[in-house]
Amino acid sequence: MRLLSTKIKPFLKWAGGKTQLLGQLTPLLPIELKLGITKCYVEPFLGGGAMFLHIASLFEIQEFILSDINPEVILSYRVVQKDVQSLLSVLDEMQSEYDKLNLLQQEQYFYKVREEFNSSLHSIDFQAITEESTRRVAQTIFLNHTCFNGLFRVNLKGGFNVPFGKYKNPTFHDRSNLLEIAEILKDAYLLCGDFMICNEFVDDKTFFYFDPPYRPISATASFTSYSTSSFNDNAQKRLAENFRFLDKQNARLMLSNSNPKNENPNDDFFEQLYSGYAIKNVMAARAINSQGSKRGQISELLITNY
Ligand SMILES: C[S@@+](CC[C@H](N)C(=O)[O-])C[C@H]1O[C@@H](n2cnc3c(N)ncnc32)[C@H](O)[C@@H]1O
Repeated sequence: MRLLSTKIKPFLKWAGGKTQLLGQLTPLLPIELKLGITKCYVEPFLGGGAMFLHIASLFEIQEFILSDINPEVILSYRVVQKDVQSLLSVLDEMQSEYDKLNLLQQEQYFYKVREEFNSSLHSIDFQAITEESTRRVAQTIFLNHTCFNGLFRVNLKGGFNVPFGKYKNPTFHDRSNLLEIAEILKDAYLLCGDFMICNEFVDDKTFFYFDPPYRPISATASFTSYSTSSFNDNAQKRLAENFRFLDKQNARLMLSNSNPKNENPNDDFFEQLYSGYAIKNVMAARAINSQGSKRGQISELLITNY
């Protein structure tokens, strides 16, 4: 077991981020990981990557395969991986400019960055690490830490549309944390695309953790649009079929999802999809919800093939 000196935190705040659940999920990780038998860790719905960073700080893994359908997410990790120093310089510059402003000026600065971020969408080469892409990732991190509720949400055209968050003295980045993440990412493959692109990395020494966009717990609580694609019940079914396929290849598999029984005790959607597998409940704080009254504890599902 390798214990890094500091607790590594995600550099992006993500709706559905797993940080608060790590204490409950750690004892449920496969024994092969704890025994050093697992050589490859795969996370196809990376987002803020809380589980990835947790695993990387605890265990010796030879290979990390990380993917997400959202190109901004993958570009962000690639820039941290390939050119963290340039990214830190841009972030430092933005932070010192921002800190000198009063709240009204900070709001103007936020909308100026958002405008620049949205207008450069079509000129960005998401495959290349350039000055332009590094600036875009700094903007992503800035917007993510200064927008309302720390969400990353884009509209159907791919534009970032979250309003200003009015935080007092936000810090966009933690230098030593970002440097540690860059170090860990040296061993990682970063792929942008649908979760099935990770299938080719499967073998019996692989552990997959799936954290898909949650099935909305009610018709109104729809926090499934992290990107321009939506993740509906058909996508959940496709994911379950993929889970069965990977199970046959003897990989260890863990999957999180919302529990529809919180709203409707008769809803057995996931019991049907994952029949034959272990399904546990873990308690979580309710997902970010605009209605303050709906905050509180909620049960989530954790499905494993071991
Ligand atoms: C619940 S979030 C993951 C949260 C993450 N585990 C964390 O701790 O921050 C779900 C992620 O799935 C991604 N996603 C949505 N549809 C996808 C698909 N078809 N294939 C791969 N990733 C997808 C979204 O972009 C989002 O980042």
